[in-house]
Amino acid sequence: MRQTLAFDVYGTLIDTQGIAATLEGWMGDRAPVLARAWREKQLEYTFRRGLMGAYADFDTCTEQALRYCCEALGVALEAEQEAELLRRYRELPAFADAGPSLDELHAEGLRLFAFSNGTAETVSGLLRNAGLEDRFEDLVSVDEIGCFKPDPRVYRHFLQRANALPRQAWLVSGNPFDVIGAQAAGMRTVWLDRARQGLFDPWGKEPTATIGGLDELSGALR
Ligand code: LAC
Repeated sequence: MRQTLAFDVYGTLIDTQGIAATLEGWMGDRAPVLARAWREKQLEYTFRRGLMGAYADFDTCTEQALRYCCEALGVALEAEQEAELLRRYRELPAFADAGPSLDELHAEGLRLFAFSNGTAETVSGLLRNAGLEDRFEDLVSVDEIGCFKPDPRVYRHFLQRANALPRQAWLVSGNPFDVIGAQAAGMRTVWLDRARQGLFDPWGKEPTATIGGLDELSGALR
């Protein structure tokens, strides 16, 4: 039975903190603070929109979160700077271990999918820019059904799209909320704890496996 791997994109393959390099030129050492706040607010908006049943796509959440965080942190961006930031967000860098690990898993014959809150257009551009797109059999976006992770429907949708049974499908994610969501849907899970701090929500369920880098993934699936 061939195993199916669903890779979360933002925070797992692609480094959302990579935007701090662009911000640095404009605001110096406040750049990482804005980058972090932006990511947190972006996710908060997906959770809130999910609870309200008021879906707007991930690009919209990203843009509105940026506006909110700039306002909250007293950062005044020109319209061109905002447009430039949003453009760069579509070209965020991949983590260095992503390409080699995907190559290894691909060579081992595993089925690889990108599975993201992001829209298909944005995520395929992101993966293409990072040189990762051709490693995947397909890209599954939550936008296809209009709700966000960790809504159980998105994991069911993934399994249906990949034509995989829950027990043969793994979610690989650096986001604990995503891991817990996939686990609740019966999938196996790998939590990518890049910070290696073991900080996982104490909801009484552990991931199937925990790794500190994608280079450990192949070994963790055995
Ligand atoms: C994604 C977000 C959750 O790529 O990181 O789905």
